[in-house]
Amino acid sequence: MANVDIIGITRMAVGGSAFQSTNHQEKNMKIIVIGATGTIGRAVSEQLAASHEVIRVGHSGGQYQVDIADPASVEALFGKIGPVDAVVVTAGNLHFAPLAEFDAEKMNVGLQHKLMGQVNVALAAQRHLNDGGSITLTSGIVSAEPIRYGVNATVVNSAVDGFVQAAAIELPRGLRINSVSPSVLVESMDNYGPYFQGFEPVPASRVTQAYVRSVAGLQTGKVYQVW
Ligand SMILES: NC(=O)c1ccc[n+]([C@@H]2O[C@H](COP(=O)([O-])OP(=O)(O)OC[C@H]3O[C@@H](n4cnc5c(N)ncnc54)[C@H](OP(=O)(O)O)[C@@H]3O)[C@@H](O)[C@H]2O)c1
Repeated sequence: MANVDIIGITRMAVGGSAFQSTNHQEKNMKIIVIGATGTIGRAVSEQLAASHEVIRVGHSGGQYQVDIADPASVEALFGKIGPVDAVVVTAGNLHFAPLAEFDAEKMNVGLQHKLMGQVNVALAAQRHLNDGGSITLTSGIVSAEPIRYGVNATVVNSAVDGFVQAAAIELPRGLRINSVSPSVLVESMDNYGPYFQGFEPVPASRVTQAYVRSVAGLQTGKVYQVW
């Protein structure tokens, strides 16, 4: 009991388990942020980098590049970087259009990119994360509050949250998985404002806290709503 620091507390809590030496509240976790050059990812990377080693990944920018829609590209990324303690995804395209204009190809934009892209990362991450590591995906408020032209977004965001809840109960080695479901960001109102009339925008500084809670906390299978 003498050493009542974060490390000591965690060792007592999991004493005797296979994860005894793995404490992901410690400083200097190695964290991959995919989408780190974007509006949310930039803010999340900055916040996490205050306490941890952050590897910034983009599609064309960042320290490393990946195409999350391509499982081989995702696998190659983990191969290059090696084992990490946390993976955060703040990437994933959607298609916005009137329902009457939707066809399979347009629906597939979000399904293949934002849904399967993030699922690809999670499926690979379960093999590459250190014991007790975490995966944090990104969904969005339209899972629960459908908007005009947003059928692809509602389907995909709901599926991302569903994947997280189901995957959490099967992940091995103390691995955790959560999603962050933000409302429209203050910083994105120029682009998305017309779609989100009547929604209260949230600042990136608030959204980032949910990612930090997911990475540094103990929850799994949780959807962090930032609404
Ligand atoms: N912004 C909002 O208000 C808001 C609200 C709720 C939910 N969301 C969700 O949050 C996610 C991020 O939104 P954002 O506004 O931050 O987006 P953003 O500013 O457009 O940034 C997108 C990020 O994803 C990367 N990226 C694009 N295609 C990729 C691919 N194929 N593989 C890997 N990375 C790829 C980009 O990399 P490059 O820069 O290198 O191209 C960039 O880092 C989206 O899924 C969005 O639906 C956003």
